Amino acid sequence: MRVFVAGSSGLIGSALVTSLRGGGHDVTRLVRRRASGPGELAWDPERGTLDAVSLRGADAVVNLCGAGIGDKRWSGAYKQTLRDSRITPTDVLARAVVDAGVPTLVNASAVGWYGDTGDRVVDEHAAPGGGFLARLCRDWEAATATAADAGVRTVTVRTATVLSPHGGMLGKLCRLYALGLGGRLGSGRQYLSWISLADEVSALEFVLARDDIRGPVNLCAPEPVTNARFTAALGRALHRPAPWRIPGVVVSALIGEFADEAVLCGQRAVPGVLAQAGFTFRRPTIDTALADALGR
Ligand SMILES: NC(=O)c1ccc[n+]([C@@H]2O[C@H](COP(=O)([O-])OP(=O)(O)OC[C@H]3O[C@@H](n4cnc5c(N)ncnc54)[C@H](OP(=O)(O)O)[C@@H]3O)[C@@H](O)[C@H]2O)c1
Repeated sequence: MRVFVAGSSGLIGSALVTSLRGGGHDVTRLVRRRASGPGELAWDPERGTLDAVSLRGADAVVNLCGAGIGDKRWSGAYKQTLRDSRITPTDVLARAVVDAGVPTLVNASAVGWYGDTGDRVVDEHAAPGGGFLARLCRDWEAATATAADAGVRTVTVRTATVLSPHGGMLGKLCRLYALGLGGRLGSGRQYLSWISLADEVSALEFVLARDDIRGPVNLCAPEPVTNARFTAALGRALHRPAPWRIPGVVVSALIGEFADEAVLCGQRAVPGVLAQAGFTFRRPTIDTALADALGR
């Protein structure tokens, strides 16, 4: 396959590029700077600059762009950055795949699309949720419409929290646990949907290869866990006690609005489309995924 990847320097993108290249695929990274070799193509998503002609002959474009959701406190300006860094690049790529005749667009989204689901199990048939993140995900996915409406096979991958010690939530938690500060957050009853980095990459390759899959696809392991269960599993995996119970008000005061939408509540999402399509998870349980992520 000939694949272009945007957001390729990130946690998921860099692992995907390595895996695709290792599998013999021809991968070009879309870079927001000057291209440094034949495996790169420069684009400027903010200005909408992308030479669609360069995409001709590609089998797929994968878009994994976006400023980090949990990287900064959500000021009004940062919330705008979170939106602009997802919706504008998606719009640019959706138009470009149509112009270049690329048959497949795989675009990032998140299980945050479902909002706070409480105990309710949600697959891709569930209704959208409320709140800033759910609205962001809805608008992000809607930005792919130009491609889908033109007949491009468009897959919006609703990714759960990716477990890797090299970044994202787990990287931050490991530092806290190392200081003996591990503990459940708020009630501990909120659900966390998660996926190992290895399965995230395999699932992306799976949807790239399967011409019969289009529309939203939950990229999450089949067993979402409560925060209390996750806390206990991480404590075990790190051989660190996690005895603390950090009240929700403290978490909110420390992290701000992000805590209210993504830490103290969550999604109990399951991978309906992947299960139906016969995808096999290599790390289906939280203990195996954490052991894998932490190299134990
Ligand atoms: N990791 C997770 O747990 C998780 C969960 C749900 C959804 N997702 C979504 O999946 C996508 C990839 O996740 P990730 O963990 O790999 O993210 P990441 O490590 O933060 O990487 C995202 C990439 O997006 C590009 N980017 C950053 N700021 C940007 C901006 N202002 N405008 C345009 N592009 C920008 C950068 O790539 P370049 O410099 O190469 O352009 C960056 O490496 C993101 O959209 C994320 O929201 C991730």
